[in-house]
Amino acid sequence: HPSNLQMEGSSGLRRADCRAKGGVPGFKVAILGAAGGIGQPLALLMKMNPLVSVLHLYDVVNAPGVTADVSHMDTGAVVRGFLGQPQLENALTGMDLVIIPAGVPRKPGMTRDDLFKINAGIVKTLAEGIAKCCPNAIVNLISNPVNSTVPIAAEVFKKAGTFDPKKLLGVTTLDVVRANTFVAEVLGVDPREVSVPVVGGHAGVTILPLLSQVNPPCSFTPEEINALTDRIQNGGTEVVEAKAGVGSATLSMAYAAAKFADACLRGMRGDAGIVECSFVTSQVTELPFFATKVRLGRTGVEEIFPLGPLNEYERTGLEKAKKELAGSIQKGVSFIRN
Ligand code: NAD
Ligand code: LMR
Repeated sequence: HPSNLQMEGSSGLRRADCRAKGGVPGFKVAILGAAGGIGQPLALLMKMNPLVSVLHLYDVVNAPGVTADVSHMDTGAVVRGFLGQPQLENALTGMDLVIIPAGVPRKPGMTRDDLFKINAGIVKTLAEGIAKCCPNAIVNLISNPVNSTVPIAAEVFKKAGTFDPKKLLGVTTLDVVRANTFVAEVLGVDPREVSVPVVGGHAGVTILPLLSQVNPPCSFTPEEINALTDRIQNGGTEVVEAKAGVGSATLSMAYAAAKFADACLRGMRGDAGIVECSFVTSQVTELPFFATKVRLGRTGVEEIFPLGPLNEYERTGLEKAKKELAGSIQKGVSFIRN
């Protein structure tokens, strides 16, 4: 495709495209929404990932510029850009992992659900492309409201007859990243040494940090638990307000998405013991989707871990989370079914 060639950022003098033919072992990864606030730094981070051999950057605007820019990095992955709906199928064909940060972000005063109107349709279109062109790819869905967009993608895949619940993952890593950071701050330790499970979903009270299960084991006062839970649940709003109308978290999100995608790729390679929190098809609660710790392997989600022992505070939080989640999930399902 001539415009794709142009967008490879190549001089046209390459002697043999051995890398693109599989000369470098690794996975083929697409980012949909690659020119956005998350997409651009995520493209940078995925170009730096040695497990990536081919990186496809798709957006409805500015994909050529981002592609030319990222393609000059002297790392292994071959970068190709794809602009606009007519190039979606080329962007997706052959991909092993598809990361989706496409869609509008919040402004102050909005909830994530306020984004449903625009983002539901975007995710539907992109999921239809995946079902058609790379039905076996693992999908990392970032676009908000995640609590509804994951059910939307699942329904699209079911309709197409391609749904594999092990391969559809809502990205909630930023909640874990924030929880690790804020807990480490309170404890006065290095955040890299802290691991906080965050379960439920990705919006307000559905974000449920399990502070009784922090690793390494530690204890908090009731005031600390209240303050930490509140800050973790409203971390996104903290950024939206600080950015004052210009958008929501992009840099910490790109970091979180790259961390999660790398875990998926290491699992796909066959590494043992890769465990991350993610919003997936689940039987941990009565809801059809729920975020918990999952084990990632060659085929995607290979094991879903139970919630573990919860204290009274967390049990109350869980009931609140489930109530809101049920509505958000149903809204996503209905968008495709009706
Ligand atoms: P942004 O507006 O900066 O970028 C979004 C990009 O998506 C733009 O480049 C836009 O052109 C592109 N886009 C729009 N429609 C598209 C389509 N049909 N196909 C392909 N690309 C399309 O927004 P952002 O800050 O990068 O945020 C993107 C989304 O991620 C938002 O919905 C935001 O709420 C969400 N988000 C989720 C998390 C999370 O933790 N899961 C964290 C932060 C942001
Ligand atoms: C976040 O948690 O930062 C994202 O979901 C973006 C938002 O709207 O808060």
